[in-house]
Amino acid sequence: MNVTIIGGGYVGLVTGACLSTLNHNVTIVEIFPEKVEAINSAVPPIYEEGLEDILKARVGKNLTASTTYESVQTADAVFIAVGTPPNPDGSANLTYIRQAAENIAEELAKAHTEYPVVVVKSTVPPGTTKNVVCKTIREKLPDLKFGCCMNPEFLREGRAVFDFMNPDRIVIGTADARAADVMHSLYAGIEAPILDVEPTAAEMIKYTSNALLAAKISFANEIGNLCKKLGVDVYEVMKGVGMDSRVSPKFLNAGAGFGGSCFPKDVSALADIIRKENLEPVFLDAVLKVNDLQPLRMISLLEEKIGELTGKRIAVLGLAFKDNTDDIRESRSIPVIEKLLAAGAKPVCYDPMASDAMQKLLPNAEYVATAASALIEADGCLVMTEWPEFTKLDKEFDLMKTRAIIDGRHILSIPDAEGICW
Ligand code: UGA
Repeated sequence: MNVTIIGGGYVGLVTGACLSTLNHNVTIVEIFPEKVEAINSAVPPIYEEGLEDILKARVGKNLTASTTYESVQTADAVFIAVGTPPNPDGSANLTYIRQAAENIAEELAKAHTEYPVVVVKSTVPPGTTKNVVCKTIREKLPDLKFGCCMNPEFLREGRAVFDFMNPDRIVIGTADARAADVMHSLYAGIEAPILDVEPTAAEMIKYTSNALLAAKISFANEIGNLCKKLGVDVYEVMKGVGMDSRVSPKFLNAGAGFGGSCFPKDVSALADIIRKENLEPVFLDAVLKVNDLQPLRMISLLEEKIGELTGKRIAVLGLAFKDNTDDIRESRSIPVIEKLLAAGAKPVCYDPMASDAMQKLLPNAEYVATAASALIEADGCLVMTEWPEFTKLDKEFDLMKTRAIIDGRHILSIPDAEGICW
């Protein structure tokens, strides 16, 4: 099939690249020419495991990128995978979604396939696919016969290619049988249960999945904070809890809280949707509150060990919001470094991939090239990201002036590290 993807961010690019491995002809439409150039040179503009291999194998054959919408005219399916950044009140900003719908309509007015299916891939508030995207196209082209679908993504950053090819489920949100057929054919080749639902249900499935996963983490953190007081290891507790098949052991890892471009944004957006319906998001507000307080616990545990932070050199190990990515969006390291700076401490930061990004955001901290250099003469150490290389750290901690080490990710293997929740 001919597929156009609007948006060459991590969702659009991974979706397009993976669909090309299923032998579809894919065009990714991206407004930034440098990204288009990078994709067309088989150089991924983001780091994503396995992506470069796909680009190398497919670019120039059945995968290409463009700054223009022209390929929409010959597309069997047009995916919208543009950003929905948060407004100041936490609600999702739909500017790019609206713009994409208008541009698609403009292009379909020139020429189109027999029954193009417009597919929303971006995470959007319930009702957006029907009432914004498809309504915009219908209003502009009242005679056009086209399909309308919401097809959420469940990709984890850093593991997105694997997740796309091995999903737990594929959700196809359309009330239109012809559009559903197109979507089923598009995903033929991927083995996974397919759930056919209404577009609005598909939109809710996406938000609800992320909110529940975020809630599991905040729940584990609240229980973890109690376990710490009781002298119990929350990881033993959650192992026991997770063995109940109704619960599942996943996403119960207590620590410094969740970050990233999705969980904080999606939980806030869902809370905002609840408020707009004149309901109170009691539960979701609590999920966010636990997550805001959690990184600050790293600081108070450190203060308990070394007292006043003024003038102290503190190694911050891990800046990315999780391992295997250079993404620092909503990273729990941000409030920690800010708090250290505000207290007059000297944060010395290390991350295998994310130092440049953090240096741009927080230039007043010091950035070094290895964990060992961050630990030299340090009065304390905070481990913020679950990078596997931190599990191997051992003698490097001998470089510290004072061995006050707080592990925010249950990753260290040395005996004297203090866990945030264990
Ligand atoms: C998340 C979801 O896992 C994906 O299914 C979803 O598609 C994606 O958001 C999205 O909406 O696009 P992602 O943000 O890439 O994926 O990262 P996760 O691996 O889920 O981790 C999120 C955060 O939670 C990280 O900061 C991680 O350190 C933290 N986390 C995760 C915990 O603190 N404890 C856990 O048990 C698991």
